[in-house]
Amino acid sequence: MDGDAPRPVAIVTGGNTGIGFETAAGLAERGWHVVVGARDERRGADAVAEIRRRSGGPADLVRLDLASFASIREFAATVLDRYPRIDVLVNNAGLAPGGHRWETAEGFEAAFGVNHVGPHLLTGLLRDRLVESGPARVVVVSSGAYRAAPDGLCFHDLQHRDEFHSLRVYAESKLANIYFTHVLARELAGTGVTVNAVNPGYVATQLGQPREADLARAVAMPKEPAASSAALANLPEPMSPARGAAPSITLATSPELAGTTGVYFDRGRPAALSPVAADLGLAQRLWDETERLLASHPAH
Ligand SMILES: NC(=O)c1ccc[n+]([C@@H]2O[C@H](COP(=O)([O-])OP(=O)(O)OC[C@H]3O[C@@H](n4cnc5c(N)ncnc54)[C@H](OP(=O)(O)O)[C@@H]3O)[C@@H](O)[C@H]2O)c1
Repeated sequence: MDGDAPRPVAIVTGGNTGIGFETAAGLAERGWHVVVGARDERRGADAVAEIRRRSGGPADLVRLDLASFASIREFAATVLDRYPRIDVLVNNAGLAPGGHRWETAEGFEAAFGVNHVGPHLLTGLLRDRLVESGPARVVVVSSGAYRAAPDGLCFHDLQHRDEFHSLRVYAESKLANIYFTHVLARELAGTGVTVNAVNPGYVATQLGQPREADLARAVAMPKEPAASSAALANLPEPMSPARGAAPSITLATSPELAGTTGVYFDRGRPAALSPVAADLGLAQRLWDETERLLASHPAH
């Protein structure tokens, strides 16, 4: 990177641990100015200190709770105030419910709210700044687990009030990430902002281990069948968070991907989607429904 050029700015949500932490640290080590969005002040500050130590470069913490529209709006306002340009937004933060149902401040089922609705709102709030900063990139961290919702989203019960199964709910939220990528890429075509989705692969992180703060408002789902030991035995060895972060870093930085948009990457490579996930009509339907949900919770 040119020593005199200003550092490009990357925002990484959930940058305090797991894949997000290694994504932020890896970008910082490549000379980027990283902004970590994290909901817990102490864990976020520890992560930022470690990123600064590892990279020797600037890294900042801005508080972000994707389960609260007020927090998302405050985060966006702070970022827009502090950073005149945004080169990359990595929508990485996410949760897997781990047998518990709880709702966000606006009453969305947690996986749908935190993994999909929150990032949709956040990206919309940062959209103009990304366009002004173009060429810029949005990286959406999805998952190959989207295939565990083979017949698509339950549009009649997006909040899973009638029927709740953790894997299904998580899979739908990751399918929603892919739908979001399709529509946003189309909306931003020609603006200089690209949007791509990635499956990082199976990574050893805290995913699926509900955090104390979330459990406090959760209801355990007693009827949910536990994963069978046979199914667990078939899982491959998980890779390290640093390896799991590599595809996000590639999507954020690789010069070869400068013009690539609307593509789903399985780890480092473009990959075919299931017919349901490739359906642009369903993607647009979710987009419209999400916009309607956002409109019913306007900023005060
Ligand atoms: N691990 C895998 O095998 C795997 C596979 C495919 C896709 N993914 C995806 O990779 C992404 C990162 O997950 P990970 O595996 O690194 O899991 P992780 O270690 O559990 O990290 C998840 C991150 O998301 C943050 N987060 C959760 N709820 C949040 C909220 N309400 N507001 C703001 N941040 C919130 C967490 O913050 P706290 O620490 O405060 O909870 C944490 O920083 C997720 O989108 C996940 O779906 C993971």
